[in-house]
Amino acid sequence: MNVLGIETSCDETAVALLRDSREILANLVYSQTDLHARFGGVMPEAASRDHLRKLPRLLDEALATAGVGWSAIGLVGVTYGPGLVGPLLVGMAHAAGIAVARNVPLIGVNHLAAHLFAHRLSEPAAPPPFLGLIVSGGHTLLAAVARWGEYKVVGGTRDDAAGEALDKFGRLLGLGYPAGLKIDELAREGDPAAIPFPRPMMESGLDMSFAGLKTAAVYWRRDHPSTAVPDLCASYLEAVVDVLAEKAIRAARRLSLSRIVVVGGVAANQRLREALPERAGEWGLAVHFPPPELCTDNAAIVAACAHHRFTELGCPGSLSLAPDPNLSLDGWI
Ligand code: KG4
Ligand code: ZN
Repeated sequence: MNVLGIETSCDETAVALLRDSREILANLVYSQTDLHARFGGVMPEAASRDHLRKLPRLLDEALATAGVGWSAIGLVGVTYGPGLVGPLLVGMAHAAGIAVARNVPLIGVNHLAAHLFAHRLSEPAAPPPFLGLIVSGGHTLLAAVARWGEYKVVGGTRDDAAGEALDKFGRLLGLGYPAGLKIDELAREGDPAAIPFPRPMMESGLDMSFAGLKTAAVYWRRDHPSTAVPDLCASYLEAVVDVLAEKAIRAARRLSLSRIVVVGGVAANQRLREALPERAGEWGLAVHFPPPELCTDNAAIVAACAHHRFTELGCPGSLSLAPDPNLSLDGWI
């Protein structure tokens, strides 16, 4: 079965074609970051209009890349939350139109569950149970995945997402938007122990907080204006990585899960990719990072989640799907 996946929950317009559960025929992503860079964050109205402009073209391109026609689509999967309501509606309206025209089921997908499916696409031989760490510009949470389709959120940020904390710090340093990759690169030349940034909420629990870290960086810059940028980046990133690693390891140990799966844009970070496996290894825990192109927002993960819902959970699909900007992963099926 060929599954068409559509993702427009934030600032990436993405279309994918998946054959069965994991053969990616096409996975196209158009990123709007240049459009939003001058605002230093995502402007929802501009995002909706840009999705509307790009999505039809991307659909044609995905079919051409896959080498199939419209009649080859057997199932449509689309993100219906969480995300920005306008952008979600654009993707959902296109998806519903295609499902009606082709007379195939329309399956709504939770964006956070879709992120976890990056692992199923890249490492089908390492199935749940595992502890999922979803860490992106919009989300930072820990979820126990008992099996595909059974998610329990056990912790997460109480304020900024980790990627957002990096992006806001990047704005402070004038590094452009989004700043995660730039900070990642600059940090490699700096000393992670140069500045004693705080590790908020580190001592106990599974929740996190990154807003205080950003405030600490503002004050450090004011009081020490000559600190080298690579040292600032390395020290700030180290604080973020320490918190993420500590919480993920604590959650996995507490829940007796032997694997940690890291997904979302921040999973591309080199320091996190080094530090987490090293520290988790001390506790006998394995860590999996899907390839970066599956970690960041894309539609192959949406198609994979839709395929699972339809073929394995028996979800019948519905054309009366409504966007849910605050959709939770906890207990979602
Ligand atoms: O998952 P994603 O593409 O979009 C959503 O936010 O849903 O994640 C984007 C986030 C941004 O905050 C960006 O700065 C961060 O991922 N990011 C990185 C790296 N590449 C992207 N953060 C740290 N290191 C990277 N190499
Ligand atoms: Zn995402």
